[in-house]
Amino acid sequence: MKGKEKRNVIVGQSGGPTAAINSSLAGVYRTAIDRGYKKVYGMLHGIQGLVEGRYVDLSEHIRTGLDAELLKRTPSAYLGSCRFKLPEIHDDQALYDKIFEILDRLEIDCFIYIGGNDSMDTIKKLSDYAIVSGSDIRFVGCPKTIDNDLALTDHTPGYGSAAKYIGTSVKEIIRDGWSLETEHGQVIIIEIMGRDAGWLTGAAALARSEDCDGPDAIYLPEVDFDMEAFIKKCKDLLKKKASIVIAVSEGIHDKDGKYVSEMDNGVEYVDAFGHKQLTGTARYLSTVLSQEIGCKTRAVELSTLQRAASHCASRVDILEAFEVGGAAMKAADEGDTGKMVVFVRTSDDPYQAGTEVKDVHKIANDVRLVPREWITKDGTYVTSEFMTYVRPLIQGDVGSIMVDGIPRHLWVPGFQDLL
Ligand code: F6P
Repeated sequence: MKGKEKRNVIVGQSGGPTAAINSSLAGVYRTAIDRGYKKVYGMLHGIQGLVEGRYVDLSEHIRTGLDAELLKRTPSAYLGSCRFKLPEIHDDQALYDKIFEILDRLEIDCFIYIGGNDSMDTIKKLSDYAIVSGSDIRFVGCPKTIDNDLALTDHTPGYGSAAKYIGTSVKEIIRDGWSLETEHGQVIIIEIMGRDAGWLTGAAALARSEDCDGPDAIYLPEVDFDMEAFIKKCKDLLKKKASIVIAVSEGIHDKDGKYVSEMDNGVEYVDAFGHKQLTGTARYLSTVLSQEIGCKTRAVELSTLQRAASHCASRVDILEAFEVGGAAMKAADEGDTGKMVVFVRTSDDPYQAGTEVKDVHKIANDVRLVPREWITKDGTYVTSEFMTYVRPLIQGDVGSIMVDGIPRHLWVPGFQDLL
């Protein structure tokens, strides 16, 4: 902001981690320093940690260019993450006063939060409170989620790397399936994250290439799941092939909204945003198939592997994550508040995308689904439009910095004990 001495910045990470979220952290840090801010603080475990007064000075963590490069290649949320829902302002004004007291004590000008739709709820509420309380701190959101379901943006950092890992792993699993002959055939079910939206599950189709047929069917949460049709499909496929591979979203549900994962009396854990933990979909379906068909089945739950696989990160994703961190910082520095940075794609081939800022009130708590027309009519695959959309986002490699044959991550002695 013109005419005022720049003071400090604080940045936090929130929601499910990704392989690219730390690249955004590095982008925020770099731009804050380049733009003349004195200190960049990092909240430990997001807003939840900040409320408890837990934060670090990031200059003690990113001391050299090599540290920044390591941070970009370090999966999971370096600062620790949280799933913490701020109450409505009128329900707990004292909490907001406490947060602003901490921010004022740290002489914060800009607050950047890297997260998904629930995390943008935090930016929305804090920027609203700043207006009613007369604070001139700017609050800007930096998009992140492997689920790729944030509104108003072409895509979200973290998705490209997870999609690349999913396409790669599905292809490797299909190869594995070819190798052994099984008497009644075998079905391998792969469970993929993304509770409401099928962007990640659709990425299983990336396995389809010259040297691989790809998965035999893909089930997204956008289409109601029909168990009978699913069993029939598997039976029909097994008449033609000895080994079939099916990708399913953790969020598939029947026409009444009941998750398949709940049909097995699954896990009961619910987070602060009321989301049930979804797990066990592949396990349940493989049990149903072995009972119905009597074939060999295998359930593969990609689980945290798909969001932590920085060894398989997409170069486009890691570079864009860095860029969007810088763009969020720039927006806050130039006076924006209550906004989130979005990607606007101008071309698929060659791939070109730029950034803009949009009102976070139109983004928070919303979910962007895969368009129905990008899913085949029978609801068991994605179309070529989906492939054209996803392919640019998985391009290129980053290259881990290897030590003793294993990727090296950013590590500062004693820091892990603070998390
Ligand atoms: O929000 C991203 C996400 O990875 C979802 O796809 C998934 O449903 C959820 O997080 C799992 O979260 P947790 O690891 O907290 O169970």
